Amino acid sequence: MKDKLHGLNEKALEISTPGVRVFANRVAQIPDGINLTIGEPDFATPERVKQAAISAINDNRTGYSHNAGLQALRESVSAFFNEKYGFHYDSDTEIVITNGASEGIDSTLRTLLNEGDEVILPAPIYSGYGPVIRLAGATPVYLDTSETGFQPDAQALEALITSRTKAVIFNYPSNPTGVTLTREAMDGLIGVLSKHKLWVVSDEIYSENTYGDGHISFASYPEIRDRLILIHGLSKSHAMTGWRIGFTLGSREIMEQILKVHLSSTICASLPGQYAAIEALDHCRDAPGEMNKQYIERRNYVMGRLRQMGLEVEQPDGAFYLFPSIKGTGLTSYEFAEQLLDRQHVAVVPGSSFTSYGEGHIRISYANSMENLVKAMDRMEAFVREHSLSQLHHSGM
Ligand SMILES: Cc1ncc(COP(=O)(O)O)c(C=O)c1O
Repeated sequence: MKDKLHGLNEKALEISTPGVRVFANRVAQIPDGINLTIGEPDFATPERVKQAAISAINDNRTGYSHNAGLQALRESVSAFFNEKYGFHYDSDTEIVITNGASEGIDSTLRTLLNEGDEVILPAPIYSGYGPVIRLAGATPVYLDTSETGFQPDAQALEALITSRTKAVIFNYPSNPTGVTLTREAMDGLIGVLSKHKLWVVSDEIYSENTYGDGHISFASYPEIRDRLILIHGLSKSHAMTGWRIGFTLGSREIMEQILKVHLSSTICASLPGQYAAIEALDHCRDAPGEMNKQYIERRNYVMGRLRQMGLEVEQPDGAFYLFPSIKGTGLTSYEFAEQLLDRQHVAVVPGSSFTSYGEGHIRISYANSMENLVKAMDRMEAFVREHSLSQLHHSGM
């Protein structure tokens, strides 16, 4: 096998399968397994969104679109952000429709990065950025947030900046912690980012899944507008992960460059999907709020159960993840996830999959039915209890 791979791109060979996938694939082989690993809504795409795509297919609107996406969709994206968040991106020059947020991340980072550049990321963080940074020959530099309630500290950020730092990536609400940023925290970060004139990539894919005071976008800071690239999409907000529709927004100059990279690899996003996206943005703005009601109920339930088990967990205000500490069990996060799966058939993601700063935690996705969550928590409780008893036994108490 090694011989067959000889000479391939070394950076590609070094990429490992994300922890989420490892445990998701394993639980899929277990008949009564419960999968709490996957970051996707368990709801159906809204009916009228589906119908919009079906009509597009029936009307043979199935060709390529403009490389940046349908003009009508870009107008819907522009109107959505303007009406909901009050900032303006021009539909002609400042928006590109991508194949999911993922392709927006890829096209953006390949446009920004040169060999030897450094990119700072508050960690623990989603595992989708590191490989793209490395493929571009750049280096991810992780900012430890594990001691600051998973909030990036502005001074700690500044301490990591070197002459090679090109960009900082933010993802709030956060995967995997569910943490959102306060206005004060953002003000501090903006001070550092503008002082050092860094590119800011803000992946706000979970913005519509915010449960507290509402989402604050990095786009609400005009002082960084020229250096900000906003990554967005409908995967989470409208339960559309399989449709592969995302949006990248930024100033005209940078978007002209990103568009060339995007079209070189994908030409354009799927056309029926783009028609569906117009419907989602224009007529289904309440859909995320409806889903959020259920997410909040599930979050509260799972959080309560975890605390009863003696696992410490902060209340997250966004996304659909809980990130409890499992330090008290004496197990590493990988051991915990592996043994929980083997003994109780419940799959969670080890915190270490989100960089070493996630060690001591597991990520639980509560985008699952209440019935499954109840069963999963019963099984996890049995696992934690059994584990603590065997610990007591080993220590001779
Ligand atoms: C933070 C974050 N960004 C991007 C993505 C990918 O989004 P998409 O399905 O739109 O490519 C995910 C998926 O889990 C995510 O958690």
